[in-house]
Amino acid sequence: MSTAENRAVPEHVAIIMDGNGRWANARGLPRTFGHRKGVEAVRETVRAAAEAGIGYLTLFAFSSENWRRPEAEINDLFGLLKSFIRRDLAELHRENVRIRIIGDRASLRDDIRSLLEEAEETTRNNTSLTVVIAFNYGARDEIARAAASLAADVAAGRLQPSDIDAQRLNDRLDTAGMPDPDLIIRTSGEERLSNFLLWQAAYSELMFVPDLWPDFSRDVFFAALERFRARDRRFGGLSSAKAAANGA
Ligand code: FPP
Repeated sequence: MSTAENRAVPEHVAIIMDGNGRWANARGLPRTFGHRKGVEAVRETVRAAAEAGIGYLTLFAFSSENWRRPEAEINDLFGLLKSFIRRDLAELHRENVRIRIIGDRASLRDDIRSLLEEAEETTRNNTSLTVVIAFNYGARDEIARAAASLAADVAAGRLQPSDIDAQRLNDRLDTAGMPDPDLIIRTSGEERLSNFLLWQAAYSELMFVPDLWPDFSRDVFFAALERFRARDRRFGGLSSAKAAANGA
């Protein structure tokens, strides 16, 4: 869970990449063109995150609610993820980037699941930026799966109900072992979390930027990091200025 420090560079940035469809519509193009351009923005953002010295970058690539989209668009998003991993894995590995996947992988197609697991396995011991891909991810589903896993331990007598606390539940989430996001950015001007990292966002700074995801760039990212620096994070305590005034 979070450390109570105010850091100049966030340790963990999570992004809700929104607006691919609107970017394409505005140009009279099919939505798939927006997703394709969105992958280029992913590449630029990963490079910028490594440059900024960020530890974890989580990208919301496919939500458990995205199954409601037309089948052709779902296939396109799956195809883009597959080609991203096929084309970029070697370079990411060379750059010492570690890949982790969060979301319900059990109900994914075998080809997608094995490709995602191969990316995780290949980069397991890398030590620079960790790119966390949220795929078939929904926060309520993640929390329910963690609760079911604790319930199974109680039923088997391995845990008592009174053993269950926030830390134990946290350790059963897909994000176990990762720091909570310090900063969550959503593009396209929408201002909601849409079932993304609900547990982990307890103390995250939220930032909503007007740019559509395909227009997200190194400059927009660095401007967001600059705005983050000016935020005063208190984690339920006092601001650092007030704490100093009180002799803490
Ligand atoms: C939101 O735009 C974006 C998505 C649902 C998918 C994001 C996926 C990618 C950028 C490509 C694959 C990811 C990786 C990590 C390689 P929207 O379609 O909801 O836009 P709209 O709200 O304007 O319709």
